[in-house]
Amino acid sequence: MNLIPPIICLLILLLCTFYICSIVISQVKRQKLFNQLHKQELLILSEKLKLMADPVNKLGNNPNNLAWDGYRKFILQGKVLESEGICSFYFSPHDKKPLPVFMPGQYLTFKVNIPGQTKPITRCYSLSDSPNHSDYYRVTVKRIPPPRDNPELDGGLMSNYFHRQLQEGDIVDVKAPSGQFFLDTEHMNPIVLVGGGVGVTPVLSMLNYLASSGQKREVWFFYGVRDSNEHIMLDHINKIDKDNDNIHVQACYSRPLTSDVLTKHYHHKERVSVDLFKSVLPSNNFDFYLCGAPPMMQSIVHDLKEWGVSDSKLHFEAFGPATVKKVASEDSHKAKPVSKVSIKFNKSNKELDWDGTSSSILEFAESIGIALESGCRSGNCGACALPVSKGDVEYFSPQGATIEEGDCLTCISTPKTDIVLEA
Ligand SMILES: Cc1cc2nc3c(=O)[nH]c(=O)nc-3n(C[C@H](O)[C@H](O)[C@H](O)COP(=O)(O)OP(=O)(O)OC[C@H]3O[C@@H](n4cnc5c(N)ncnc54)[C@H](O)[C@@H]3O)c2cc1C
Ligand code: FES
Repeated sequence: MNLIPPIICLLILLLCTFYICSIVISQVKRQKLFNQLHKQELLILSEKLKLMADPVNKLGNNPNNLAWDGYRKFILQGKVLESEGICSFYFSPHDKKPLPVFMPGQYLTFKVNIPGQTKPITRCYSLSDSPNHSDYYRVTVKRIPPPRDNPELDGGLMSNYFHRQLQEGDIVDVKAPSGQFFLDTEHMNPIVLVGGGVGVTPVLSMLNYLASSGQKREVWFFYGVRDSNEHIMLDHINKIDKDNDNIHVQACYSRPLTSDVLTKHYHHKERVSVDLFKSVLPSNNFDFYLCGAPPMMQSIVHDLKEWGVSDSKLHFEAFGPATVKKVASEDSHKAKPVSKVSIKFNKSNKELDWDGTSSSILEFAESIGIALESGCRSGNCGACALPVSKGDVEYFSPQGATIEEGDCLTCISTPKTDIVLEA
């Protein structure tokens, strides 16, 4: 019997089967890939829809629009002690109308008549919770104690008033949320949030917003404190870490207590630094949002630049004198020749040449020992306004506060000609 025809038939059959199988397999693969892409597309679309529907993101197009003019009355609804010396304050509006959203990272300006003070005191406090609460605003305040070498002196005026005198039911005057240090909610770039001490408040607002909005944006949250006594909202922050695959919390203790437990309380026994970022982050391709004590920020901002992070990816806020801003603007100062003008502080009887090393008249006054009133240090609260009795100033930032004619906002201005200020 001739076996060749059946063998050929069998081979043809095998080839056909192989061909059909490979077509089916490639079809299945293609379908799988298509499903994956489709899933990704749906995810991106749903993120985009979420962003479009998000009132915070809508506000991001116009963050400078103040939600109300001047001061609005707020009632203190509750006080929560977060750690030794740090307390959260929950305020709701006296008029009971819903609260407008704010950009995570912005602050409130408070004006308070403190007993014993001749004029109202103005201070700013960052909003520390997510903007998605229309019934309250929360700020978290550290009490500034008296200096160690002079314990009989009073500590910080406003922070002590908040901690010791302000009671539930009390009413305070509050300016609408403002400030330029806020999260870019429009784009989905991966981000690093860095908070040092009580400087964690604005980045905590960003973290809470990101966790509650359900975005899948990659987030690294570095929180630097000395030990667990300074660590606020430990359980809350750890829960965010546990519940969100895209959010990675890294607590850094510089001097942990013997009772502090690695991974439960903290992750690194060191200060927050760029060396730590290099060992933990997959790359430097992040937007960095930093708030903390000026020395910490000064070194981190400097080292991030050396690591190749561009200025456009660096966002920071200092609660005290704006040391980092000065460093950041050093280049522009170098580029711009300083005109030879003098500043006279009439009441203090001091007259000096403006040498261009201070970024504003406010900073210049502080550097020569003249303590001026200040609040936001960014032109929004009006606390630093001073009458100019001679000469002109020029502004390097837009004026957010309304001031008397003939006054200047010292935190955002430099002298244009020789000037005389009533301070
Ligand atoms: C935009 C912005 C946001 C802020 N957000 C917060 C916040 O969320 N939580 C918070 O607790 N603070 C925050 N601050 C700081 C806050 O506004 C006050 O400066 C701080 O509470 C001290 O005010 P005081 O009236 O108690 O002290 P003051 O009476 O003004 O000062 C008393 C003494 O303490 C020193 N001092 C002043 N400020 C500080 C400081 N921050 N750290 C250490 N020593 C200081 C002064 O040099 C002075 O010797 C923020 C500041 C700004 C500009
Ligand atoms: S400090 Fe607020 S406007 Fe100058």
